[in-house]
Amino acid sequence: MKRFNYGFFHLVFFLISLLLLGSGLSMDPFSYDQSLKSECLMEPPQTTSNTEGEGFEELNINEKRGNIKVVERFDLQKGNTYSISAWVKLRNDNQRKVGMTLRWKNGKNVFGGEVMAKKACWSLLKGGITADFSGPIHIFFESNDLAAAEIHVQNVRMQRFNKTQWRLQQDQLIEKIRKNKVRFQLSFHNKSAVKGSVISIEQIKPSFLLGCAMNYRILESQSYKEWFVSRFRLTSFTNEMKWYTTEVVRGQENYTLADSMMNLAEENNVMVKGHTVLWDDQRWQPSWVKRIRNPEDLKNVTLNRINSVMKRYKGRLIAWDVMNENVHFSYFEYMLGGNASAIVYSMASKLEPDIPLFLNEFNTVEYDNERVGSPVNVKKRMEEIVSYPGNKNIKGGIGAQAHFAPKQPNLAYMRSALDTLGSLGFPVWLTEVDMAKCPNQVKYMEEILREAYSHPAVKGIIIYAGPEVSGFNKLTLADKDFNNTEAGDLIDKLLQEWQQKPVEISIQNHEHNDEEGRIVGFSPEISLLHGHYKVTVTNPSMKNLSTSFNLEITKEMGHLQEVQLVIDA
Ligand SMILES: *[C@@H]1O[C@H](CO)[C@@H](O)[C@H](O)[C@H]1NC(C)=O
Ligand SMILES: *[C@@H]1O[C@H](CO)[C@@H](O)[C@H](O)[C@H]1NC(C)=O
Ligand SMILES: *[C@@H]1O[C@H](CO)[C@@H](O)[C@H](O)[C@H]1NC(C)=O
Ligand SMILES: *[C@@H]1O[C@H](CO)[C@@H](O)[C@H](O)[C@H]1NC(C)=O
Ligand SMILES: *[C@@H]1O[C@H](CO)[C@@H](O)[C@H](O)[C@H]1NC(C)=O
Ligand SMILES: *[C@@H]1O[C@H](CO)[C@@H](O)[C@H](O)[C@H]1NC(C)=O
Ligand SMILES: *[C@@H]1O[C@H](CO)[C@@H](O)[C@H](O)[C@H]1NC(C)=O
Repeated sequence: MKRFNYGFFHLVFFLISLLLLGSGLSMDPFSYDQSLKSECLMEPPQTTSNTEGEGFEELNINEKRGNIKVVERFDLQKGNTYSISAWVKLRNDNQRKVGMTLRWKNGKNVFGGEVMAKKACWSLLKGGITADFSGPIHIFFESNDLAAAEIHVQNVRMQRFNKTQWRLQQDQLIEKIRKNKVRFQLSFHNKSAVKGSVISIEQIKPSFLLGCAMNYRILESQSYKEWFVSRFRLTSFTNEMKWYTTEVVRGQENYTLADSMMNLAEENNVMVKGHTVLWDDQRWQPSWVKRIRNPEDLKNVTLNRINSVMKRYKGRLIAWDVMNENVHFSYFEYMLGGNASAIVYSMASKLEPDIPLFLNEFNTVEYDNERVGSPVNVKKRMEEIVSYPGNKNIKGGIGAQAHFAPKQPNLAYMRSALDTLGSLGFPVWLTEVDMAKCPNQVKYMEEILREAYSHPAVKGIIIYAGPEVSGFNKLTLADKDFNNTEAGDLIDKLLQEWQQKPVEISIQNHEHNDEEGRIVGFSPEISLLHGHYKVTVTNPSMKNLSTSFNLEITKEMGHLQEVQLVIDA
């Protein structure tokens, strides 16, 4: 409880959280509450609660063909999204990936999702397809080199959504995961003061941030800078913090660009995610590093790099990419030993123990046919890092770069990929979202960004974009005169939508007295996006009643939050 004393008005406020608990016993494979962290189960659950709506089907396994299990044929309709789930278990092996493939008649294959299946218990495989063609398909389940008889598959379920239905579902999820219902209760001694009191609510800082990358050209263009800082509160630099930029010549560090951009960000209240301490791709080392053959020499310069860049920006970043792309590549493992990434994370967490240390990969959510940087592999990589001795308590983070191809994104696959990444319990960010220009670029970008925003594991999004002068030429948000492109309009629309607009609500007098004889009135319930707020109580007929306080609305406070204000007037 906090008590405010404003001259002769005393304001006391209480926060009461009313936690509404669901029954949570039945298992709905397409809902988030239970399945985001779905454990391996002894029995595959039979019931579903919410999925029996339109477009819901149970599919039967009706064939075994060599090493695959085939599900009966069904017809896809172009433009619809199909969420598909199944419970899988292995007969003999302890642990192995099982994948789901959708095969069209002419041999076209779409990979729908995968899970790390186990022997002793059932794992939920989720995924699906956003169809960009119509026609009959077969779904099959397989694991490399395993005969069909060695994989159990049960409870295959599919649900079809048209674009409107999918969007509706996203909006419902957003309402549930990004907002709380809040109601104000106000009590006064003075009866007539309750009536007509107004509560103004202004968001100071939203919890969820849609950020944008920036590059050194922002230092050269005042217009780029103004364009940027008037929109974004979160950024990451493209190349300026990378080793190949800061130490072009061995032993001659030069942080001029990164320092200037860091200062620019700080002066304008823009938070920065550091990118990147190291990069596991041999091709992107400084050229002098590529020439090093002696592992001890490489180790020395690598340690120097980690210390140099992390100490320089210590306390000034909100996250770090530590070893970029270390699922696809393994330069440091090859040169320094199989635990190189884990050791680098261990050092990084000692230098910056309080901010999330990200793994940052490509093709994880954006490309369903990816086999190396797949969600299951990215999850496994992070688990390896955390299980290295001493790393148990490091704060991890999962960055999915999200460079999408210029075509219909597979939203069902993206959702299942985010489920898998989110099941580690670390924050998941989309870190470099873009898509090459194509006729539906803006529409597809909107689908992608809404899909990420409606997923509970996603805690931040950074788009890889800028105005024409910045040279981000895939996703260009403004032309050379800084007039918005269509993509720019989309981003501005989402920035608006994802922060709470100021609201004023009035107190209705319920003519009801509390124990101390005060009159109690209530505001209507309102739904507010998570974030920090400034709340002001005024009454037009009481000129000197104007009192403000800060309020934080967070997910942790439950679905309905009641704020009680007691005013001694
Ligand atoms: C999607 O399905 C709903 C419910 O059946 C229907 O009302 C709506 O017209 C459909 N929208 C599209 C774009 O097909
Ligand atoms: C009670 O409030 C009314 C206005 O709402 C004001 O005119 C009146 O002076 C107040 N009475 C006291 C005792 O403060
Ligand atoms: C450091 O980098 C800046 C920006 O690229 C450049 O202007 C400057 O000449 C460099 N300094 C040295 C000593 O190389
Ligand atoms: C690496 O650093 C250590 C400690 O500073 C030094 O003794 C050693 O000679 C260095 N190795 C190489 C190959 O430079
Ligand atoms: C990696 O670290 C683990 C745990 O300390 C150790 O058992 C393993 O041998 C190491 N692997 C390599 C390649 O050094
Ligand atoms: C673009 O911006 C310039 C300068 O701000 C303005 O004069 C012009 O009318 C704009 N063009 C369009 C098509 O909006
Ligand atoms: C409230 O306002 C009235 C007149 O508007 C003034 O006479 C009175 O002193 C004020 N009270 C306080 C505590 O400021």
